[in-house]
Amino acid sequence: MAKKEMIAVVDIGSSKVVALIGEIDADGQVTLLGLGETAASGIKKGAIVDIEGTVKAIKSSLEKAEQIVGYSINSAVVSFTAPSIMSLNNKSVVAVTNLEREITPEDVNRVLNATKIVPIPPDKKIIKAIPRFYTVDGFSGVIDPIGMTGSRLEAETHIIAVSQSTFANLQKVTSRAGLNVLEFIPAILASAEAVLYPAEKELGCLLIDIGAGTMELTIYYEGSLFFTGAIPVGDQYITNDLAIGLRTPLAMAEKLKVEAGIALARLVEDDEYLEVENVGGTDKQKVSKQMVAAIIEARVREMFELARKEVRESGFTGLLPGGVILTGGGAMLPGVREVAQEIFDLPVRVGIPGGLGNLPTNLITPRYASAIGALMLAVKQYQEEPEDHDGMDFLSQLIQKIKSFFSELF
Ligand SMILES: Nc1ncnc2c1ncn2[C@@H]1O[C@H](COP(=O)(O)OP(=O)(O)OP(=O)(O)O)[C@@H](O)[C@H]1O
Ligand SMILES: [Mg+2]
Repeated sequence: MAKKEMIAVVDIGSSKVVALIGEIDADGQVTLLGLGETAASGIKKGAIVDIEGTVKAIKSSLEKAEQIVGYSINSAVVSFTAPSIMSLNNKSVVAVTNLEREITPEDVNRVLNATKIVPIPPDKKIIKAIPRFYTVDGFSGVIDPIGMTGSRLEAETHIIAVSQSTFANLQKVTSRAGLNVLEFIPAILASAEAVLYPAEKELGCLLIDIGAGTMELTIYYEGSLFFTGAIPVGDQYITNDLAIGLRTPLAMAEKLKVEAGIALARLVEDDEYLEVENVGGTDKQKVSKQMVAAIIEARVREMFELARKEVRESGFTGLLPGGVILTGGGAMLPGVREVAQEIFDLPVRVGIPGGLGNLPTNLITPRYASAIGALMLAVKQYQEEPEDHDGMDFLSQLIQKIKSFFSELF
């Protein structure tokens, strides 16, 4: 039997960098073995503003995970947040060239590459072209055209771009941290992998990841990605509002939010007074839980209104009966689901990442959706196509598979 091998992911967020190391057995099943988490300070609103600080956070998270596992990691899949993320859907068509008119992987590559030729703002870089569906001789909705017979192959892809500088900085911090990056994945796609049900994607749903610095959004419709975008306003804004409104230090405001915050003032049943430090840290004041909730609610409403506006401006005109799914640390605030329900007038649920065996309960929260989803994406191809590992080194095979999987997927 082939020996077990490791796979690592690093999720780079505004408030934390998380490294996960999983062990893949001969059947391609993954077990989480190591986790390392470091508070991040080098990222503001999802953009890297302190290269050295981010490098340190990546190294420290990896080291923590490596220590648990007793194995050194050189390669990882990296998920990241980008407030500059944008998307568009593009179509292209090619003629099937071989004499039998049987569609080959080369035809598919040609048509996908052709969809990437699309005008985007000059400061942006296309990072993914994800097939939505193919059309063969006028028959649309084809998921996998390879082997089908036809003379005309069309593809519709979802193109995702981020700012050139975001991408260059990501490459810089990962390479300085000594990482060989197998693939860069937008965190929102990783979160989608971890929490969305196929039925939701089919019906049409909106996923919102509320991170510390950025809210990222994605719409799935008829089973495929329709829109990806971001709003540079995250959960940290709530902390800032509390700090200003209550004249208290940021650290106190953060503690208050996480320990006693509620996003809907009318959900506060027994109003009580909480002790809060003043700005100088020299004195204490009493503030009511109702007042704290009112400050949070105002900002949460505004955040979801911005998200609703982004959806309206996305060009999506369909319905979203699959509802709204919330992930990210911001989804952990009690009452946030109810506020989203009011603003979107849709069913809303909080997305809890599942799908991996052996997850400790403290990881089964919306905060870790993107890190867990990145690990799930990394091993997905392998799980779907287990094969004989004799001959080629298992890890090289896996890396090869991951690379081809992502180039197919994206
Ligand atoms: N239990 C909790 N209740 C309320 N808020 C929480 C809780 N836990 C974390 N948060 C908030 O969630 C935010 C962090 O979320 P998350 O870890 O998803 O962000 P990130 O991935 O680091 O950032 P981004 O995705 O914007 O780059 C912080 O602002 C924090 O205050
Ligand atoms: Mg995040």
